[in-house]
Amino acid sequence: MKFFVDTAETKEIIELADSGLLDGVTTNPSLIMKSGRDFIEVIKEICEIVPGKPVSAEVTAMDSPTMLEQGRKLAKISKDIVVKLPLTMEGIKACNIFSQEDIKTNVTLCFSPTQAILAAKAGATYISPFVGRHDDIAYNGMNLINEIVAIYNNYPDFETEVLVASIRHPIHIVEAGMMGADVCTIPPKVIHQLVKHPLTAQGLEAFEADWAKTGQDI
Ligand code: E4P
Repeated sequence: MKFFVDTAETKEIIELADSGLLDGVTTNPSLIMKSGRDFIEVIKEICEIVPGKPVSAEVTAMDSPTMLEQGRKLAKISKDIVVKLPLTMEGIKACNIFSQEDIKTNVTLCFSPTQAILAAKAGATYISPFVGRHDDIAYNGMNLINEIVAIYNNYPDFETEVLVASIRHPIHIVEAGMMGADVCTIPPKVIHQLVKHPLTAQGLEAFEADWAKTGQDI
């Protein structure tokens, strides 16, 4: 399973890149707004922090000609750029054209299996179903992942990877793994939560104390 980090905070990306766990980065206009930084500048910097790994940068246009213009501009920043497009008919049109131009795409704001089918037919590199936002309205978002993975598995010509987005807690990642999703894009805080276990901390404390009693060194 690939791990992308879902943030535009470069300090957090540097820290996680050092762990060797990162396979890519996703951003969106809200994350750019939170960073308080210039969009192009921050995307360039992220590409330098994680060379060779996919970095999703989102278009803001609503019509496909402008999406194509914005996406081509973003794709010029680095060969690692993945143009993020909204799951609208205009986004699907742009996705189709980018796929013919060999520009990688991440079709975002997916909330239904039918939308995911359209993205795969348009040749999207990634489909981003949002699980947390579904949970927020009392629908189990992971059901959507289950359905999309099952559908994509029925059609070997669909090459689109399932990128689980809007992740809020570690259980989303466990379930994504059990369902066979390709990628999870995870907020930094949740990545840090994945390693924690009270029995690990407790066991380590006991080992350290016992080792000190031996008076030995390695
Ligand atoms: C990822 O590409 C999405 O932009 C992100 O996961 C959305 O997460 P949120 O629902 O927590 O804002």
